[in-house]
Amino acid sequence: MITIIGTGRVGVAVAIHLAIKGLDDIMLIDIIEGLPQGEALDLTHMCATLGIDIDISGSNDYKDMSGSELVIVPAGFIRTADMSRLDLLYKNSEVIKAVSKGIKEYAPNSKVIMVTNPLDVMTYLAYKVTGFERNRVLGFSGLLDTSRYKSLIAKELGVAASTIYTTIIGEHGDTMVLLPRFTMVGGVPLESLIPKEKIQQIIERTKKMGAEIIKLKKWSASHAVGAGVATMAEAIIKDTKAVIPVSTYLQGEYGVSDVCVVVPAVIGKNGIEKIIELPLNDEERAAFLKSVETVKSAISQLKL
Ligand code: 2OP
Repeated sequence: MITIIGTGRVGVAVAIHLAIKGLDDIMLIDIIEGLPQGEALDLTHMCATLGIDIDISGSNDYKDMSGSELVIVPAGFIRTADMSRLDLLYKNSEVIKAVSKGIKEYAPNSKVIMVTNPLDVMTYLAYKVTGFERNRVLGFSGLLDTSRYKSLIAKELGVAASTIYTTIIGEHGDTMVLLPRFTMVGGVPLESLIPKEKIQQIIERTKKMGAEIIKLKKWSASHAVGAGVATMAEAIIKDTKAVIPVSTYLQGEYGVSDVCVVVPAVIGKNGIEKIIELPLNDEERAAFLKSVETVKSAISQLKL
């Protein structure tokens, strides 16, 4: 069973993509009475229409996550267009503490995918409060930020986004580090295809894309989040060993410790199976370390 805690727009988008993949039965949990139960019925009927034979239930009780192999956490508040992801820290840390205690009690053997912002700080908090091994606590954001970056490159070059390979490191936030040197378009290095200034514009727009979407649709991005989280879930449930950028607790990798930030990793049945250390140049390393410091200073504001 896969449990989703928090069934607002993001949680429901995750549920839709998980259901379409037919990976496992789904339990929706939320504190709002009726909401997860109603969404579960609606999604059950979606599955009946599509011929997908999984069971989807809703509950207001943490104990109903018992036996979950995977728990996905989009619970909490979203930011408004004028808020940074870090502004959410105080509001969401109380929510995530309570949720993490619930996971520790009722799904002690599960893997956990954090989705709540500020993503890296909430992943750190969940790691600390659950006390799980670090491979079992993963933060989602890398597939979202790279999907935005790839979409902009695809448009610029007139190629399919699916033919672009890239990765990302650092914070899911203003200091995220996109990596043109590690971006390939059909096997051709990006930097030989687009001038530096244009790449920089694409990077800047990517970093602000979350806010751009919130401003336009007056709500947080959800569809790309749903698709990306389901891709991570699939890597875990099917043990695919896909290389995906995820937020994880670093213990010396990249010369960094006691912080969660995004780095590429091999994802399989144990969660994070291997952290990949990219051969960064001085400029990339400096940008990464600046990003790490931003997350560390936010973490220092947590009351653990
Ligand atoms: C995003 O980047 C809100 O962090 C979320 O869309």
